[in-house]
Amino acid sequence: MSEGSDVKVLVLLGSLRRESVNRQLVELATEVAPPGVTLEFFDRLGELPHYNEDIDGDDVAESVQALRAVAADADAALVVTPEYNGSIPGVLKNAIDWLSRPFGNSALKGKPAAVVGGAYGQYGGVWAHDEARKSFAIAGPRVIEDLKLSVPFKALDGKHPRENADVAADLRDVVAKLAAEVG
Ligand SMILES: Cc1cc2nc3c(=O)[nH]c(=O)nc-3n(C[C@H](O)[C@H](O)[C@H](O)COP(=O)(O)O)c2cc1C
Repeated sequence: MSEGSDVKVLVLLGSLRRESVNRQLVELATEVAPPGVTLEFFDRLGELPHYNEDIDGDDVAESVQALRAVAADADAALVVTPEYNGSIPGVLKNAIDWLSRPFGNSALKGKPAAVVGGAYGQYGGVWAHDEARKSFAIAGPRVIEDLKLSVPFKALDGKHPRENADVAADLRDVVAKLAAEVG
């Protein structure tokens, strides 16, 4: 990050559906981000091919090149994801796998990262969030383990998360603390 410029946070969303509540959490994160912090939402995870070493290299798919380019330009990363069957949605795991290569030289290497999100279960998807932290940390970023937010969607009463003051405050706190980790 050059002095005086905004902190750029790459945002990855683990749900592809249009009405995704996690997508609404991304919207909220953008709204509550403190001054000087810009969220760069890479909304193309559905376009990434399944990870395959045979197609990774200099002529890799354009969508992968775009993901790696925005990751290289970012100062930090924020994952926002639901839980699928007690774990990480495949589309998110696939993105993490693409970002983990070149091995030892990820575009996110050493950059601070945090994982948040929500799900309809009573624990708000905490298994997926824990697994995303584990996997992302192995892939290269410096995952900040104590930046956590797992929202049980029933608590939102069907409303946009921006209408829940606690969720908005917690998310603002995560984004601010993540940005503060940028050296
Ligand atoms: C394939 C699938 C698996 C799911 N597994 C879980 C689960 O393990 N835990 C949970 O709390 N919710 C689970 N759900 C429900 C999700 O929490 C719910 O669909 C949520 O709204 C998904 O997030 P989104 O609104 O951002 O798409 C699952 C949903 C789908 C479609």
